[in-house]
Amino acid sequence: MVIRESGMPEMERWESFFDPHAILLAFGLSSEDKTIIDFGCGYGTFSIVAAEISLGDVYAFDNDDYFLAESRKRATEKGLEKVHCIQRDFVKEGVGMQSGSADFVMLFNILHAENPINILLEAYRVLAPKGRAAVIHWNYDPLTPRGPSMDIRPKPEQCQIWMQDAGFELIAPKLDFPPYHYGWLGQKAE
Ligand SMILES: C[S@@+](CC[C@H](N)C(=O)[O-])C[C@H]1O[C@@H](n2cnc3c(N)ncnc32)[C@H](O)[C@@H]1O
Repeated sequence: MVIRESGMPEMERWESFFDPHAILLAFGLSSEDKTIIDFGCGYGTFSIVAAEISLGDVYAFDNDDYFLAESRKRATEKGLEKVHCIQRDFVKEGVGMQSGSADFVMLFNILHAENPINILLEAYRVLAPKGRAAVIHWNYDPLTPRGPSMDIRPKPEQCQIWMQDAGFELIAPKLDFPPYHYGWLGQKAE
């Protein structure tokens, strides 16, 4: 099941919309985070940078052959064998990893899905106690140069409620990633 309207332009343009390194550091990703999961890795924009920050492994999931191939190519070019690019529909099947096995999950530009709570519940399941889930999404503003159409684009408060409904405690106020994105950071209970 493909998430509605992924709206991905070519890679260079996509990656001009944000600074992945600054975003991941703002979320507190560190070398201590050993198992990281990227739900819908796209071009590997965040998976690759996460692997450079962390000493551990990154599991990058996508159901689209093209995006997986791009992510794999970039990881190989950088010698990052610890980026594991896995084809999987996480809406239908989950990520297939053991419960409680991850330190940090990334849910970036995907919560316009038809059932965001199910994705967040899968993220919650797979995180270890005190593991963190980072969400970013496009500002709720029709003037952003890309992003899902406004009828399916979630408002920041909506993402906040979904995260709390999935069980996360929000451990930071809403983050702003100008010019076009905002973020939330949630934590699984101990
Ligand atoms: C808008 S892109 C965001 C990519 C990346 N998270 C980023 O922010 O750079 C959404 C990605 O999720 C993937 N995707 C959509 N539905 C999916 C599903 N059900 N299972 C796995 N991947 C999915 C798409 O193929 C696409 O690469």
